[in-house]
Amino acid sequence: MSHFSFAEMKEKNNHTAVGLNHPLHFQQPKPIRKAVIPVAGLGTRFLPVTKTIPKEMLPIVDKPAIQYIIEEALESGIEQIILVNSKGKSAIEDYFDSDTALESFLEQRKKFTELDLMRKLSNLIDIVIARQKKPLGLGHAIHCAQSFVGNEPFAVLLPDDLIKSNVPCLKQLIGAYQEYKANVIAVMEIEKKHAPLYGIIEGQMHADNNRVHLLKNLIEKPSEQKAPSSLAVIGRYILSPALFHCLASTQKGAGGEIQLTDALCELLQQEPIIGYRYEGLRFDVGEKTGFVEANLFFAALRPDMKERLKSFMKQLEF
Ligand code: G1P
Repeated sequence: MSHFSFAEMKEKNNHTAVGLNHPLHFQQPKPIRKAVIPVAGLGTRFLPVTKTIPKEMLPIVDKPAIQYIIEEALESGIEQIILVNSKGKSAIEDYFDSDTALESFLEQRKKFTELDLMRKLSNLIDIVIARQKKPLGLGHAIHCAQSFVGNEPFAVLLPDDLIKSNVPCLKQLIGAYQEYKANVIAVMEIEKKHAPLYGIIEGQMHADNNRVHLLKNLIEKPSEQKAPSSLAVIGRYILSPALFHCLASTQKGAGGEIQLTDALCELLQQEPIIGYRYEGLRFDVGEKTGFVEANLFFAALRPDMKERLKSFMKQLEF
């Protein structure tokens, strides 16, 4: 057997065929055209700077963190981005918009390299804005994108998770979605003591592909003792539109918020979900140390910065 068939996956997931609506969208997997990126969070882990600057706009070397995420989506074949934003964070929207005054200034001054950079940025990808009017949690934020997504499977990228990989992480997930005809969640091996920071999956490893785990359950931010495995959910998802029906009835969960993880547990009762252990290095740029690490890492990849940075690091005495 090279992969689970849909029926085998249902069986392995303890689903009975009786009473289960066979998700038609998985028989012939539709292309993943749209990606939802929630950016409405208040960024309290990053105060004081986030009092006026959205955390997604903080630079990793010379590009805001959100640009890396949008470029990953673009390189994975996504055609439209749905940013779920909130009041006071319009700097994110402006950054990807065109600025005719700036462009004509650069043109007059014959600063053509910069002009080209600005034009490429505003033509990067089609971006639409959904609003999350109240900070009710990640699940609620995704629900706010429903009318833009419509009735097709879609991607979710959480901008706190910056992933450097050979093949873009989202593209790896789309490949798994096409092969296994299921919802897909990115997962990463962690030390169990860090389980309270993540959603943790309980799954069964695929016999022929140790990157693929068929989910039986998932728990948001369990204690180390209650964590069913050391596979943590990382912020990349390929999800069927059935998720929106689950979100409509999801009650407040961990932290008093409407959790995406709880809606995914509900989805798991209807459709298969696999955890995909992607190839890549992940930085939590929503947290100060992870943000600084990402800056050092991405700067070290730049030929114009690498040597100076290396010798500076050698001089540092910690
Ligand atoms: C969110 C998800 C969690 C996931 C994490 C990955 O949590 O709810 O399941 O493991 O992203 O970064 P957050 O970090 O937003 O609290």
